[in-house]
Amino acid sequence: MSNPTRLAIIEGSTREQRQGENVSAWFLNHVRQNPRFDTDLIKLVEIDFDIVQSPHHPRTGNYSAGVQAFADRVAAADAFAFVTPEYNHSFPASLKQALDSCYAEWNGKAAVIVSYGGLSGGVRAAEQLRPVLAGLAVATMRDSISVTSVATHFPPDSPPIELEGVEKAAASLLMELDWWAQALAAKRAVDPYP
Ligand SMILES: Cc1cc2nc3c(=O)[nH]c(=O)nc-3n(C[C@H](O)[C@H](O)[C@H](O)COP(=O)(O)O)c2cc1C
Repeated sequence: MSNPTRLAIIEGSTREQRQGENVSAWFLNHVRQNPRFDTDLIKLVEIDFDIVQSPHHPRTGNYSAGVQAFADRVAAADAFAFVTPEYNHSFPASLKQALDSCYAEWNGKAAVIVSYGGLSGGVRAAEQLRPVLAGLAVATMRDSISVTSVATHFPPDSPPIELEGVEKAAASLLMELDWWAQALAAKRAVDPYP
């Protein structure tokens, strides 16, 4: 049996009172029931990014202390789950900032997208995210996890409701993610990403 896949769950929204906290907590709880994964929940709101001011290209690996702490957590992961809302048919600037802040730490790894929003479930955000991840040499799974009408699933002060269908889809997608993450981790171990 191979080592568990180290999955970094990245909470993309940084708004106060964001639904992203509910979605990432629900997804983390779901993943934790699967012994194939070790998890790290990265809340972007807690990271000190300074890429707008930095004179260094992320490819140099020359990071500020805040970005270095984030990059170390990205480097420690074999796979990512990007928890993203949909803002104006795309993913939020906070997530783009995080993706642009480092480089080599993302390369040659696998990812799943967990999107949410209104009736569309954030699928347009998910599709906009894919080419950006390709630019970072991150392999996304064919399907994604999508939570429609997000607020209805997370009533205030109550457990999440009516997510059984999404959890079923998530369970099979996690198997696929594990397959890819393990294959890529084994390859990186003997042959670092070029
Ligand atoms: C700036 C902004 C733009 C939005 N645009 C969309 C959109 O294009 N499609 C959609 O389904 N929902 C849209 N919404 C609704 C969000 O999906 C919803 O508010 C969600 O809770 C946002 O995630 P968050 O609370 O984690 O930040 C938008 C919300 C904001 C704040």
